[in-house]
Amino acid sequence: MATISQDELDGIYTFAVELGKQAGKMLMDAAQVRIDGGNASTEQKEHVQKENAVDLVTETDENVEAFIKRAIADKYPSHKFVGEESYSKGASRDYLIDESPTWCVDPLDGTVNYIHLFPMFCVSIAFIHNNKPLIGVINAPFLKQFFSSCAGRGAYLNETQRLPLIHNPIPPMPKNAPSGCVFSCEWGKDRRDIPDGNLHRKIESFVNMAAELGGRSGRGGMVHGVRSLGSATLDLAYVAMGSFDIWWEGGCWEWDVAAGIAILHEAGGLITTANPPKDEATAPIEDVRLGSRLYLAIRPAGPAGEETGRQGQERTVREVWRRVRNLDYSRPGA
Ligand code: IPD
Ligand code: CA
Repeated sequence: MATISQDELDGIYTFAVELGKQAGKMLMDAAQVRIDGGNASTEQKEHVQKENAVDLVTETDENVEAFIKRAIADKYPSHKFVGEESYSKGASRDYLIDESPTWCVDPLDGTVNYIHLFPMFCVSIAFIHNNKPLIGVINAPFLKQFFSSCAGRGAYLNETQRLPLIHNPIPPMPKNAPSGCVFSCEWGKDRRDIPDGNLHRKIESFVNMAAELGGRSGRGGMVHGVRSLGSATLDLAYVAMGSFDIWWEGGCWEWDVAAGIAILHEAGGLITTANPPKDEATAPIEDVRLGSRLYLAIRPAGPAGEETGRQGQERTVREVWRRVRNLDYSRPGA
């Protein structure tokens, strides 16, 4: 198995950061043209449907992906490239990440937000090696938020603010988590109105997490708040910041989460599967497999008394599993 030295990784990181800045500028420039009423002002009408009426692509998604793909091919011709728009056009839904050095890119995460000029949109760039996201760069230009991380170098907001935001010390998970937590989740794109289908199961899970303690036959989680940003990679960045305590979602693809996972890991967060195992109180809590499409992320946590930060995160995972339903997001054709 080929190895990459820290020096090489640092060089790739510098390149990825620069790429993220340029791509973020492209996104904002195109948004600005629309704001100013220029040529691209009709983009809201000109987006194209992919799988259904809420799975959309704009010219900007495609231009930014083409730009990133070319820049990577010029600089690192031997590296693999997996991008949302190139992948969507192909017939295959196979899992494409393996041990080779791979770039996994979402040129525009939060496309619906972008179309509506809701500021939660970004470009998301990950570098993966041996199946592990090692570098993450997320640029949300309308928010002026730039997240970056490299394995062994820490995770940052706007290159100087170390993540999580509160880190001296890092707060423990609340004693009665999920009570006291901000819970982030996504409605996603599977809107099929099937009794006991994904949409219904998600809503039941959201209500369980929100309901008062003692409600919902003991499943009420009484979380502090429920949030839905419309960008999976920004959800993960906000968990890395510590602004969200929990993120639970099914249906995302690799490019929706790869950079966010890199940043979350480097900040000290945990990410495992969204679907509760049968023995949720005792099952081992394993790192999620990129490509599983089912994610449960917990923010970085410090110790409290006898409990380590990791134990607090695991306790929270089990409390979430107790309240959420299993989702069905196998890979089409898999
Ligand atoms: C979507 C967003 C959304 C998540 C979906 C993704 P896109 O990505 O990240 O939050 O729920 O699963 O597909 O289409 O905006 O790039
Ligand atoms: Ca996208």
